[in-house]
Amino acid sequence: MKKPWSGRFTHKTSGIVESFTESISFDKRLWKHDIRGSIAHAKMLAKQGIIPAKDAGAIVKGLLEIAAEIESGKFRFRNELEDIHMNIEAELVSKIGPAGKKLHTARSRNDQVALDIRLYLREETEDVLSKILQFQKTLLKTAERHADTVMPGYTHLQRAQPVLLAHHLLAYIEMIERDKGRFTDSLKRLNVLPLGSCALSGTSLPNDRTFIAKELGFKAVSGNSIDAVSDRDFAVEFLSCACITIMHLSRLAEELVLWSTEEFRFIEISDEFTTGSSIMPQKKNPDVAELVRGKTGRVYGNLVSLLTLMKGLPLSYNRDMQEDKLPLFDTVDTLKSCLEIMTAMLPGITFNCKRMLATAGEGYSTATDIAEYLVRKGIPFREAHEITGKIVLHCIKKNIELHELDLKELKSFSAVISKDIFLCLDPVASVRARSSYGGTSPSQVLKQIKRYKKSL
Ligand code: ARG
Repeated sequence: MKKPWSGRFTHKTSGIVESFTESISFDKRLWKHDIRGSIAHAKMLAKQGIIPAKDAGAIVKGLLEIAAEIESGKFRFRNELEDIHMNIEAELVSKIGPAGKKLHTARSRNDQVALDIRLYLREETEDVLSKILQFQKTLLKTAERHADTVMPGYTHLQRAQPVLLAHHLLAYIEMIERDKGRFTDSLKRLNVLPLGSCALSGTSLPNDRTFIAKELGFKAVSGNSIDAVSDRDFAVEFLSCACITIMHLSRLAEELVLWSTEEFRFIEISDEFTTGSSIMPQKKNPDVAELVRGKTGRVYGNLVSLLTLMKGLPLSYNRDMQEDKLPLFDTVDTLKSCLEIMTAMLPGITFNCKRMLATAGEGYSTATDIAEYLVRKGIPFREAHEITGKIVLHCIKKNIELHELDLKELKSFSAVISKDIFLCLDPVASVRARSSYGGTSPSQVLKQIKRYKKSL
């Protein structure tokens, strides 16, 4: 197959160079976006009188035929034509003849590839956003079902204070709400048209970039042709957002793994979403959650790949940038599959509410409630903390829980203590009392559930 640059060359490209430099094996994923961009470009060329309208008509018709062939799997992608851009253009020329040779007027593969990736990522960002929303809705439903399930809340993975399971789940909704904000914000910078920047410096032909931007739904046109072909910030930004989102998924995955251990016994994941062992008959493993956690490492790696790829590149386009696609595609696929599987797994999780409540009352988790009780009786917090610490130490020595103390014993630590203190020692009462804004009391949690039911 003749190369588009054959005029300048006297020898054929070596076969090993063709295999080494090709990107068609992975960038064929961009075919739809490439064709869409080319159609808009051809229309612009005709409108501006750069090519005859009938040539543009033939180009559009040819491109639509090619799209149909690719869609149906009939198209033959050729390695020696390097990438998706040259594969489609060569096929167009062989289909419609000389008119096809006019498509690549006033553009370069440098602005073309930047355009294709932006179109692709815009679509994928929308898809990621809708998958995040589905996940949030599922979390919210689970939270609603457990609006009064009490569990131990942790800091340092040590039992800290009783909380509502719904509150814990809402924490994830809150995190991913920020993720949505980041992805949405990134769209502003992504949704800018690079086409018309050509190789790096623009063109002497009378193009109309605003027209193409409108055709393709871009909100703005890039203002510097050098930047437009050398910029991959939008891809770095997508990967950064993806890293934060999958980090959140990984934290939940980690909790699911932990909670399904015999040591915790807080949840059981359904059979459909667990796997067994080939040797140990009793095993039921949380592999899905583990893989979500594990894939997070790969997605971080993808971000570091792209950042490293870009850091030493002089302006403007360099072929190194072809390597942007694999980490990008892999991140899109991985993030979407993790969101999907977590959304699917959640409804099949059974929460062991009894055990959660029982453990919430153990380990002196209501000690802070005693300290706050003493504050209400007029004792400065630091003293209240000290007194409560002594009560806890006393219980540890006697190997009993706080609620097992009798009033006389309690009074020996402070004269202000009376029998109303027992209300503080119950984990359910403890949760109910934490009604500060954003706290874990049922009243506060219901407010948040309502807020999200409205906004999601
Ligand atoms: N396949 C290339 C890429 O993905 C296309 C860009 C232009 N190539 C070139 N040699 N100028 O980056």
